[in-house]
Amino acid sequence: MPTIRIILDTDPGADDALAILLMLASPEIQLEALTTVQGNVSLEKTTRNALALLEFLNARHIQVAKGCSTPLIKPPHGTQGEEVHGKSGLGQAVLPEPKNKPIEAHAVDYLIERFLAEPGELTLFAIGPLTNVALAIRKEPKFAQSVKELVIMGGAVRSGGNITPLAEFNIHEDPHAAHIVFNSGIPITLIPLDATYKCLLTSADVDRLNKIDSPIARLVHDVTADYMEFYLKYEGFNGCALHDPLTVAAVIAPELLTLEKHYVNVDISGGISTGKTYADFMKVAKQPTNMQVALDVKGREFVELFIERMERLAYQFNEEIASGKEQERPRNDINA
Ligand code: RIB
Ligand code: CA
Repeated sequence: MPTIRIILDTDPGADDALAILLMLASPEIQLEALTTVQGNVSLEKTTRNALALLEFLNARHIQVAKGCSTPLIKPPHGTQGEEVHGKSGLGQAVLPEPKNKPIEAHAVDYLIERFLAEPGELTLFAIGPLTNVALAIRKEPKFAQSVKELVIMGGAVRSGGNITPLAEFNIHEDPHAAHIVFNSGIPITLIPLDATYKCLLTSADVDRLNKIDSPIARLVHDVTADYMEFYLKYEGFNGCALHDPLTVAAVIAPELLTLEKHYVNVDISGGISTGKTYADFMKVAKQPTNMQVALDVKGREFVELFIERMERLAYQFNEEIASGKEQERPRNDINA
């Protein structure tokens, strides 16, 4: 199976961390770089978290480019995300301070450089607000045509919202960026709340994973601790939604997704429905389709796949430690 070469734009973020873990645990994927954006927490924290995760996972060779600290037009949401993702943005996980720094280039310039260097070869995943991607599209007219595919976690099409009754967080946080991206002509696969809320990782799943005595299992537990507390408090559910990890299914298990092609756009009118994503199901707008949207998923099968890949990564990580590779990796002081 050809390896899919991916650059990931991200705002880690508990579920972003799980998506990074899943990408690193998937032989179908070559994760080539991360670009960071303000979203769940500040840009400083999302960038620090990206570097810390990669170092912990012995993947410090993967470059990190720092991106935009505010949305294009609306002010950033502030610290709301910390209630969901914890003050650090990685829940209760305590990772060593990263030794690596982000590269000099701004994420927007890095994206332009990488995609124009190999047109049609690289896939972009965006699992935070779309600010960096929108600016790359606006700054370089050739950027959009150079992207092989753009997989986005975002939107609520038939589903209600999770940040307003109508809108999903990533799109609502920068609706103007989303409007630019949705109308750019890039081949888009959208993974909205309609599908991600059917992929619920339970605390029993995390306990099952932690039958393996491994820093990976503990990391999944600690990263999701605040996230699960939030779901229990507000949704009465003992678990959490695998929003960002589900984007990875577009590569490793597309058969689990129900994908439909539609014309989808986002409300930027500034009223109560700002950030709402809508699909022209009745084709009244007479517009060509601009993306494929995951309107359903075999949710439990995806969660089982996620756990299986985490179990595999946990055993692999333990073997690396046993074979003496841990000196390349800072000791994990989680539950040390
Ligand atoms: O609405 C869920 C999305 O918002 C996820 O990407 C989560 O990390 C937050 O960024
Ligand atoms: Ca995210």
